[in-house]
Amino acid sequence: MIEIDRVTKRYGAATVVDDVSLVIPRGGVTALVGANGAGKSTLLSMIGRILHPDSGTVRVDGMDVARTQSAVLARRLSILRQENQVAVRITVRELIEFGRFPYSSGRLTGEDVAAVDRAIEYLQLEEFANRPLDRLSGGQRQRAFIAMVLAQDTGYLLLDEPLNNLDMRHAAQAMSLIRRMAEELQKTVVVVIHDINFAAYHAGRIIAMKDGRIVADGPPETVVSPSILSDVFDIDVPVHQVEGHLPSTSAPPPATAPSRRRRPQPCPARCANHPLMRAPLPASLPRHRHRPVHIKAVAGAAMIYRWGTAR
Ligand SMILES: Nc1ncnc2c1ncn2[C@@H]1O[C@H](COP(=O)(O)OP(=O)(O)O)[C@@H](O)[C@H]1O
Ligand SMILES: [Mg+2]
Repeated sequence: MIEIDRVTKRYGAATVVDDVSLVIPRGGVTALVGANGAGKSTLLSMIGRILHPDSGTVRVDGMDVARTQSAVLARRLSILRQENQVAVRITVRELIEFGRFPYSSGRLTGEDVAAVDRAIEYLQLEEFANRPLDRLSGGQRQRAFIAMVLAQDTGYLLLDEPLNNLDMRHAAQAMSLIRRMAEELQKTVVVVIHDINFAAYHAGRIIAMKDGRIVADGPPETVVSPSILSDVFDIDVPVHQVEGHLPSTSAPPPATAPSRRRRPQPCPARCANHPLMRAPLPASLPRHRHRPVHIKAVAGAAMIYRWGTAR
């Protein structure tokens, strides 16, 4: 469990994270949304102890991160930062090996190599493993960065805009993989994401920030509403329900929201034809049975569906 207790961060006179308290229990995908400058990266960086709060505490599994040894924290929690620039020319495998640093301090053991291999396989990067990062497409490179944090083998993954620069197909693939990591590997994922459709589609819980504060927190069914979205993004965002699925009125409270389970239903034809669904997934991904939940059009854009792995 991640516990954020009255955390504040200031730069000069500007308070960029303002007295935020939040509990993120284990499991599931939590999306952090909000306009540019809302404080999302700053909050994530304070959870990952890249930044120190001016006041308040962050605890991960009960440990105050300010007092926890780096090596201990790095085995619990990994963070993929928004800006990932690698100055030197390294290969995909070498990048992923960085993820093992908390364990190996640079001298890889057989166990480290096995973890790197698993991450390469999971993100389907075998054919690129020995290729320099600068000879990959944006989507492949982003998968390599996600593999690096996966190799770190932590229960918590904080991903800051992992869909940056990805086209819709690659964003859909990356988000499916992130969701899969949460479901299959029991990871707790907090992901900063700009696309409300993807957030609603994949996350069990959406936390919306504005001006350093949390202004909405709950399941997509409650957060993806015209009034909340227009407050968060300062524009009018119509939300249309276009299928007969009514928003749930008995949504679980945020603390338990991330691991909602719904019985898979057959995917209706329109769902299968939707661009998000047509995005080809790597062949070895398990077959998904699509289970539409709340089907809405946001700002005239894509409809929202969810899918789950058939169990
Ligand atoms: N090192 C810094 N010095 C001064 N202001 C900063 C610094 N880092 C971030 N900020 C400011 O803090 C606010 C929140 O930034 P950030 O957390 O990156 O927002 P978001 O990730 O939601 O776009 C922004 O107004 C930004 O300009
Ligand atoms: Mg940011």
